[in-house]
Amino acid sequence: VTGASRSGKTSWVAGRVAGARRLLVWDTVGEFAEKFHCYPIWSIAQLAKVCSPSSPAQRIAFQPMHGTDDEGRSIIKLQFDAFCRCAYIAMRAHRRLSLVVEELADVTSPGKAPAAWGAIVRRGLRYGPEIYALTQRPSESDKSIMGNASVFHCHAMARADDARYMAKEMRIDQAAIDELAPLQFLQRDRRTGVLRGGDLRKRRAKA
Ligand SMILES: Nc1ncnc2c1ncn2[C@@H]1O[C@H](COP(=O)(O)OP(=O)(O)O)[C@@H](O)[C@H]1O
Ligand SMILES: [Mg+2]
Repeated sequence: VTGASRSGKTSWVAGRVAGARRLLVWDTVGEFAEKFHCYPIWSIAQLAKVCSPSSPAQRIAFQPMHGTDDEGRSIIKLQFDAFCRCAYIAMRAHRRLSLVVEELADVTSPGKAPAAWGAIVRRGLRYGPEIYALTQRPSESDKSIMGNASVFHCHAMARADDARYMAKEMRIDQAAIDELAPLQFLQRDRRTGVLRGGDLRKRRAKA
């Protein structure tokens, strides 16, 4: 799920997971906890508990910390690794986990995906989760998610590099992305090949 800031990414995903009973969100700005009926947690110890195989279905929003630790390592990246390990355990134990990751470019880079995230994207799909990976900067996020995504959902992009990148992935002209207004989107289903457009302000997306 790509798009500039305020282009509608979070709103679209929140609508998709509105009915999800077992939901886990990497909630970088706390929106899912605040607006979309998720229980906020901040500690990895708590996260490990709610992701254990015996835990009941819940809607959880994990809010990562920023900054660096005493050895200069990025805390958000360390926490993302732990978050992904917990998520993997939960998705293996429970079919139909919904997983949302806000701003992937904060925690991944264009090279190889961090190991635990890569494991979710490459091997975790067999357990039947529904995964939404969001980013403003697809050209700076990892390639594993692009290679394994079943749907590309693209809102208006701020930067030409990113618009060009998404146009190429979606096999469309960049002009089609450049013309998107906030809350409008284009979506390509890679399994069926179907391309459709829509607008979050309208109930039904037009074919
Ligand atoms: N259907 C809608 N009608 C009107 N405003 C909307 C609608 N959907 C989302 N918005 C507003 O658009 C803004 C940007 O949406 P958001 O999903 O937060 O974008 P992003 O996650 O890409 O930054 C928000 O203020 C949101 O409330
Ligand atoms: Mg958002």
